[in-house]
Amino acid sequence: MLDTAVRDVEGVAGYQGTRFLDKGLLHLRVNGEERSAVARPADTLLEVLRDQLGLTGAKPSCRNGDCGACTVLLDGWPVKSCLMLAVEAVDHEITTIEGLHGTPMQQAFVREFAFQCGYCTSGFIVNGHALSQIHPDADEATIREWLQSNLCRCTGYAEIGRAVQSVLEES
Ligand code: FES
Ligand code: FES
Repeated sequence: MLDTAVRDVEGVAGYQGTRFLDKGLLHLRVNGEERSAVARPADTLLEVLRDQLGLTGAKPSCRNGDCGACTVLLDGWPVKSCLMLAVEAVDHEITTIEGLHGTPMQQAFVREFAFQCGYCTSGFIVNGHALSQIHPDADEATIREWLQSNLCRCTGYAEIGRAVQSVLEES
């Protein structure tokens, strides 16, 4: 298993490291910019974004794919960055909440007061933005199903749903 992982990492263009636990230089494209980070092959995308690149909008919470607080876009599709190795994101376009500043989805969350403590908010905005790009004609049931990948512990789901729906209605 470890051997396989090492071999896989060695084959990734954009990663200059050789051993699974060694740190290497990683080249990523984030929010339209070329970024470099010193990371291990075992580091998750969430860890590299937050700890190496200073992009702290994606939040660590469950770290096992359940809550969606860490959601980012990979080539426009939402992914849980706690479940993905950073080396797997090489050669892909990564978008974080920092890259969605001023978008209709961000503005809708403010307008609809779709947050309380705010810990889940960046993940919901990223996921909602993806829906507006991928399925702009989504109906209410589809919106509800799409948003099931994210949890809000403050349970403000009605406002979150309204915010997402308002963007789709405007588009
Ligand atoms: S921290 Fe990634 S899904 Fe919860
Ligand atoms: S606003 Fe607090 S967890 Fe969602």
